[in-house]
Amino acid sequence: MAAELLDGRSLATRIEDGLRAEVGTYATLFGRRPRLVVVLVGGMAASASYVKSKAAAATRVGIDSEVVAVPGTATTEELVALVTAIARGDHGAADGILVQLPLPLQVDKTAVLDAVPPDRDVDGFHPENAGLLSQGRPRFIPCTAAGVQRMLIDAGVETAGRRVVIVGRSDIVGRPLALLLSAKPPRAPAPVGASGCDATVTLCHSRSTDLPSLSRQADVLVAAVGRPGLITADMVRPGATVIDVGVNRVDGRLVGDVDFEPVRTIAGRITPVPGGVGPLTVAMLLANTLLAAELRSRQG
Ligand code: GUN
Repeated sequence: MAAELLDGRSLATRIEDGLRAEVGTYATLFGRRPRLVVVLVGGMAASASYVKSKAAAATRVGIDSEVVAVPGTATTEELVALVTAIARGDHGAADGILVQLPLPLQVDKTAVLDAVPPDRDVDGFHPENAGLLSQGRPRFIPCTAAGVQRMLIDAGVETAGRRVVIVGRSDIVGRPLALLLSAKPPRAPAPVGASGCDATVTLCHSRSTDLPSLSRQADVLVAAVGRPGLITADMVRPGATVIDVGVNRVDGRLVGDVDFEPVRTIAGRITPVPGGVGPLTVAMLLANTLLAAELRSRQG
């Protein structure tokens, strides 16, 4: 039997509906809307398209946004100065600041990302936010990792005590997701129950030996490498939940890291690409931007 499809688009729409109401309440209370400023460097079509969809989603829920586009020849110093100027208010009050990745090779990515003040770091990439997540007291959770967790919770996928195998150890997805899913459940006021935490997590990478034997142990298998066809049917335990974070363009088509059709006949649940994790990444960015605005407003 073919696996159940986990529909990220419909879940993202439901999340957006909730956020629209919360943003409305925020605007009524504080007399302004949350605001997101996105820095787009260079002319990569994929990055421009992601940024466009982030700005469109912000508009749908009532969050103001601005895209600051700079040429791909920008230097580290210029980008650090730009981010610092945005934080100072040169582009209007920015509750959230996001630097779209990847950055051109000449740029020191870490220096630029570290220039984003941690209380506006809606990507959750700043070391302060990474540290808070690693200590089990997250503030801004990287959006894709938060989206994967939300999808598991929404689908009722049990993670407590189960084996989660994550392939890919990036700072953006694999590593924060491993922290998130292996964490103790948060205490009141918002327990997430048995789903989305308390997992036994194995974080695999390019040096992991015998990846298939590891991935076959997974109740939940997450592919987050960026290599089409990496996860084949023989690497999946029958009935497993397969989450495909990969976004690769092959012959003009978007595909994930999972060999979708064969794996679909083995898995219990599977995310499509496109229409799986991608829309949730955007929805979590909106949630983080609202959180950033609330934190700033409460600080006065
Ligand atoms: N490029 C691909 N994914 C992301 C993301 O989550 N945040 C940023 N800033 N850039 C990305």
